[in-house]
Amino acid sequence: MLLVYIMIILGSILMVTNILRFDRFVRRSKDVLSSGKSQDVFWTNLAFILLIFFLIGYIGIAVFSHPDFLVGSILFGGSIFVAIIISFIVHLTDTVKERSIDIVETLIEVIEARDPNLNGHSRYVQNVTMCLWKYIPTEMKEGITPVSIEYAALLHDVGKLGIPESILNKPGKLDAAEWEVMKQHPKKGVRILKKLKSFEDVLPWIEYHHERIDGKGYYRIPGDKIPFAARVIAIADTYSAITMRRAYKPAKTYEDAVSIIKEVAGTQLDPKLTDIFCSIPKPELDACVPENVDVDSIY
Ligand SMILES: [Fe+2]
Repeated sequence: MLLVYIMIILGSILMVTNILRFDRFVRRSKDVLSSGKSQDVFWTNLAFILLIFFLIGYIGIAVFSHPDFLVGSILFGGSIFVAIIISFIVHLTDTVKERSIDIVETLIEVIEARDPNLNGHSRYVQNVTMCLWKYIPTEMKEGITPVSIEYAALLHDVGKLGIPESILNKPGKLDAAEWEVMKQHPKKGVRILKKLKSFEDVLPWIEYHHERIDGKGYYRIPGDKIPFAARVIAIADTYSAITMRRAYKPAKTYEDAVSIIKEVAGTQLDPKLTDIFCSIPKPELDACVPENVDVDSIY
């Protein structure tokens, strides 16, 4: 009889551990490259409720009934089974996460090899996006994981790999035909990334990063149809474009950038987000310039 109670107590302790490990797993899995679908939230909550139900069942059986060896061993075995399943999904998720990061890093290496300036701009936009992200109220960020927007910001211009260098690095204004080619880079980016399942949720953010609130962007998407994350990246991209030197223009200061961004709030950029952006202290934005990148030496 003592053995039965020992098995139930050990099973209960293991069940508590399972609940805590599952909770930690759910929190960590938000870092995986996914925006968190409502379907996943339903199943996660159901799994939590069932785990707690099982734990209450263990205690109830131990206190209110007279469990025999068979019941004790089924309960103990059940808690071990749940522990094995949780270990399995944690391992699987870690593998998926590592592969997603490996793929992104490989793409970044490709960008770096082809065009170090583009890599500098991408890292700058990534840092400014994440700096702005910190200041955006939680309720506005619902359904977007930090890692998703970070990767989207980093790879927003990956489609420029498909744009001829003569257009990309032209030391002057582009003519109408060249602009048409240049405008294809968000769609080219989507074409490059669309085979990767883990990027599914971030593709529209990359495709629409040049859309404008007044609907006059690259693909004329109406303002209310532009994904929230794409609006955030658009601000970081604009700030980077203003404060870095290009072949056809010198770098401008933080003050210039803020005044230009305020001017285009409500026409080009989201007005609520621009307000938030303009409240970020200058030193924090200065710190966004990636290491080994001199804003004045960028094309
Ligand atoms: Fe772009």
